[in-house]
Amino acid sequence: LGTVLKKHLADSWWKRFVSSDAQVHALDSSLMLPATPFEKSGHLKHFTDPLVDCRTCKQRFRADHLDPTTPKCPCGKLDDWGSERSEERFFNLMLETSIGPVADLGSKAYFRPETAQGSYLNFGNVVKALNPQLPFGIAQSGKAFRNEITPGNFLFRTREFEQMELQWFCREQEADHWFDHFVAEGQDWLLNDLRIGPERIRLCQHAPEDLAHYAKKTTDIEYLFPFGWGELWGFANRGTYDLECHGLQFRDQQRKETLVPTVVEPALGLTRLLLAVICDAYSVESIVNQSGETDERTVLRFAPALAPYSVAIMPLISKNPEQREICESLFAYLARHTPLHPTKEFSSTKIGKKYRRQDEIGTPFCITVDHDSVQDQQVTIRERDSMEQVRVPIEQLKSLSLDGIEQLFVKQKK
Ligand code: GAP
Repeated sequence: LGTVLKKHLADSWWKRFVSSDAQVHALDSSLMLPATPFEKSGHLKHFTDPLVDCRTCKQRFRADHLDPTTPKCPCGKLDDWGSERSEERFFNLMLETSIGPVADLGSKAYFRPETAQGSYLNFGNVVKALNPQLPFGIAQSGKAFRNEITPGNFLFRTREFEQMELQWFCREQEADHWFDHFVAEGQDWLLNDLRIGPERIRLCQHAPEDLAHYAKKTTDIEYLFPFGWGELWGFANRGTYDLECHGLQFRDQQRKETLVPTVVEPALGLTRLLLAVICDAYSVESIVNQSGETDERTVLRFAPALAPYSVAIMPLISKNPEQREICESLFAYLARHTPLHPTKEFSSTKIGKKYRRQDEIGTPFCITVDHDSVQDQQVTIRERDSMEQVRVPIEQLKSLSLDGIEQLFVKQKK
């Protein structure tokens, strides 16, 4: 289910930031690159984190993540680190490998620590093939690898993760405009399409001393995870740094001018976003059940378009062959002929329990086939969040979009 949720998040980003802008071009570049591009990009020298060792517990820690006001090692074994704490050293985050049958210096390669470098290395290919005018973008979604010193907090920081990055090439004087545009678009997508709670989103501008080696200016969108605020999406003005490192230029045929475009980069972690979306959707609430007793239900309140399944089709009585048959044929129709993501819930439990199971995995709508459906060809749709129900003819349901189903309940609430 997490895999499907992740795919829906990636699809939503793709639709909003790639396919709906004709100036953005899609790319899939390689995961492994020889050392030379990373020498040129400065990653071999600067893509480092400061680390300290504890000589007692033998663990390593990110020096910039330690609380400067406490003299204790996070392991808790020492009251005062004193000489047990090593000097700060810089540790390169790139994962190294070798390519080919002989592991000599010439075969050294690295797994990409960001998708961005592949977009710069293919800049010339994109320009040659598609002849774009400034401003234009190259977008990639895919794996990135970092030998993190302290991975943790579930998907927040892992050594293998996925990114969704856009490199936007523009004129220097327009960079601030595009920077603000993408920060605003990013927030709008998170709040309106992904329906993340606005109180759990904030902007954070990097101080000059915290900027990555390539960045002139960076603002992060942070999310309030259960373990505190953390970076979700970085927006950087990378200036002309990267294209200059790789010796790249752009020829503007219309203006008869050659220039090095400025790069504005919205860089989002897909797997980190997945964690944020799950945390945001999770709720345990008290409800009054059909017998009038107070009950608890666990719900994942995903935006309907993101949920792994958008509709769960279920017979009121699972053993009833006629009800099952209607469910099967409705499932087959919706799966093949509509953009909905249907599933079947044929467990032999009571209907209330079937609804709860779907609430727990975030399915926004349940479609119940009952005794009457066999006669009147109508079904009951139950909404996850309000738990309200409406009855609709099967034929009408077949032509409804997900928004259309949601509207049925909006109308009812009015
Ligand atoms: N190309 C620019 C770049 O990579 P970054 O801020 O280092 O910038 C972009 O990474 C995003 O990738 C971060 O905002 C975060 O969402 C995600 N990210 C970075 N390191 C990660 C890790 N170790 N595990 C999971 N996600 C990570």
